[in-house]
Amino acid sequence: MQRTSDVRVCPRHVAIVMDGNGRWATRRGRPRTAGHLAGARATRHAIEAAARLGVETLTLYAFSGDNWRRPATEVDGLMRLFRRFLASETARCVSEGIRLTVIGRRDRLAPALRSAIDGAEQATTSGRRMHLRIAIDYSARDAILRAARALAATTPAANGDEPARFAAALGAAYHEPAPAPDVDLLLRTGGEQRLSDFLLWEAAYAELWFTPTLWPDFGAADLAQALADFGRRDRRFGAIVADAAPARWSA
Ligand code: FPP
Repeated sequence: MQRTSDVRVCPRHVAIVMDGNGRWATRRGRPRTAGHLAGARATRHAIEAAARLGVETLTLYAFSGDNWRRPATEVDGLMRLFRRFLASETARCVSEGIRLTVIGRRDRLAPALRSAIDGAEQATTSGRRMHLRIAIDYSARDAILRAARALAATTPAANGDEPARFAAALGAAYHEPAPAPDVDLLLRTGGEQRLSDFLLWEAAYAELWFTPTLWPDFGAADLAQALADFGRRDRRFGAIVADAAPARWSA
């Protein structure tokens, strides 16, 4: 069995597509909202495990820009769950030194959720142990378009700083306090093997890891396994030597 101590090279930035809540509930004859509630418990465990394992940045895909197309009852339930989760997790994050920020559009969120986000971000701003980023109303394509539009309005002649300026504009488009490091490891639960409009720019050289485990069943041992597998990957960033440094596009 893989133990956490087997992790030799910890990815700095781990991103997770938390998929499978609906199927988890349906298999138990329960409403999809019950799956999301169970998913919230798994989320808390994953956050604790990531911090314990030494992950510096953890980005969780909680709600995509396309998820608005779900039935209103499911969307409302998710939004309530996010607000409750932020309320309950803020104190925990403060005591564990975790900074919590939310990336994505804010203009389509209810005022109560927006103020819960503001409250969580302000209360946890000094957290240094891990940066937890929760993606709500997130679309990588939309963020890229917004960044491109913002830069097109201002960009002087090319001088080599474009990647850094683009990363900053991308962050500004989606309320990131500063450009996050590139994603090292991107996980997806629930058996599908796709990115679903998540961190398309930042995950250019991410190692991908998929599991059929449904998100509510995903636990600390699964995360440790993913990190251990990451530690065995050769990352060449287009070069020939294993563990070569990334090119200048990284933040
Ligand atoms: C995808 O699974 C999951 C979502 C769209 C919601 C993710 C939300 C959580 C994990 C809840 C907790 C998160 C926070 C931040 C409180 P799905 O419902 O599409 O599953 P399915 O593919 O089995 O239908």
